[in-house]
Amino acid sequence: MSPSSERPLQPVSVPAGWSPSSWRRLDAGQQPSYPDAAALEGVLGELRVLPPLVTSWEILALKKQVAEAQEGKRFLLQGGDCAESFTDCESGLISNRLKVLLQMSLVLVHGLRLPVVRVGRFAGQYAKPRSADMETRGDVTLPSYRGDFVNLPEFTPEARTPDPRRMVKGHARSAMTMNFVRALIDGGFADLHHPEYWDLGWVRHSPMSDDYQRMVAAVGDAVRFMETISGEALHNLNRADFYTSHEALLLPYEEALTRQVPRQWGWFNLSTHFPWIGMRTAALDGAHVEYFRGIRNPVAVKVDASVTPDQLLRLTDLLNPENEPGRLSFIQRMGAAKVEEKLPPLVQALQREGRRVLWVCDPMHGNTESTSNGFKTRRFDNIRSELDRSFDIHAALGSRLGGVHLELTGENVTECLGGARELTEIDLERAYRSTVDPRLNYEQSLEIAMLIVRKQNALARPAQA
Ligand code: PEP
Ligand code: CO
Repeated sequence: MSPSSERPLQPVSVPAGWSPSSWRRLDAGQQPSYPDAAALEGVLGELRVLPPLVTSWEILALKKQVAEAQEGKRFLLQGGDCAESFTDCESGLISNRLKVLLQMSLVLVHGLRLPVVRVGRFAGQYAKPRSADMETRGDVTLPSYRGDFVNLPEFTPEARTPDPRRMVKGHARSAMTMNFVRALIDGGFADLHHPEYWDLGWVRHSPMSDDYQRMVAAVGDAVRFMETISGEALHNLNRADFYTSHEALLLPYEEALTRQVPRQWGWFNLSTHFPWIGMRTAALDGAHVEYFRGIRNPVAVKVDASVTPDQLLRLTDLLNPENEPGRLSFIQRMGAAKVEEKLPPLVQALQREGRRVLWVCDPMHGNTESTSNGFKTRRFDNIRSELDRSFDIHAALGSRLGGVHLELTGENVTECLGGARELTEIDLERAYRSTVDPRLNYEQSLEIAMLIVRKQNALARPAQA
């Protein structure tokens, strides 16, 4: 164990005036309007007694890892679908997503010589913010689709009416996903001795996978070498910690999973390890910030190009008044065109005030566009450019970009343009499966991991000279 992971967590206390339901006094954006209040209450009563999905000690272990990432001793990899769907709760899709994340984390560990904090966007990523409450087609207006937690995408009154029972189903789907991921990892799926478990069947030949296979061989040699020298098996390589995250958007659900546990003070959101506040619900006086203020989880907030230094400092005061290590991460998502102008004043404001945060780059959500043939897409070049510039900006300011937040899948989709295979607008017609945001496919994801390694090593070199 490194000295920083032994550091005791700072004693803080439940903030004044906070309770798991104190958010109800404030304006809660992006909430469905349930037609049957009694049915909603019944469901929440049921959820309040169902078992949690994660434990407080896992949450505190993750907080320590985030604290280490803040000190430059780890790199955070967070990724998964834009939105999970109930029908995608299926073994092949779950294990393929895990395989991509494990492959990326191997590239990062090997290339950066740093342990990686692995966080999935899964086991609860079922609620989505929308630009409008209602959707009109022809002369019919219905509630917008808000994710499988709330309603269904089909444009019928039955499908679009928010149904609170879907929260119970979402809780069960999250538990099944967690159970499968935990079982795979405990059973040796993440064992560094067997990286061949992570091969994706459909990948035949890819320039990315050739590079990757060379890295696997190098890691395998290093593991065997260490075992020969020490005469023992390296047991801690048998498993990798995996944590979950989702946008904690649907506050009645999050409240019902907010619990006290024996021998710990305060309240934990036990629906996920690492909840985040989305860009559209990060208002200082909003219900989401109020809810997040009182839970003991490590938390993250999305930060777009419109956030001012003053707003960011006030957000920091509200969410981490004690400057507790590991507590707060900011996920910057400015867009390649704006990051150079908008990011530096934010980084500098936090530096001036000595605030401890982990900066994570989401190079996806500020770079979404529509193609002439009607697809929502993202250009790999813009994704790469925002990430690349973010590393440079932090380094130039004496700050550090400590993680990346990506929308990705282990399936062979064609949703983002460019990358090693130079996907074009015509390719999008071939395998575009996302119902929400476009995701990186396997090759594009590995390319990003390799790019991070090249970039970090290039930045580190002058300092070592
Ligand atoms: C998302 O992460 O899918 C999302 C909606 O992001 P943002 O809140 O940054 O727009
Ligand atoms: Co998204």
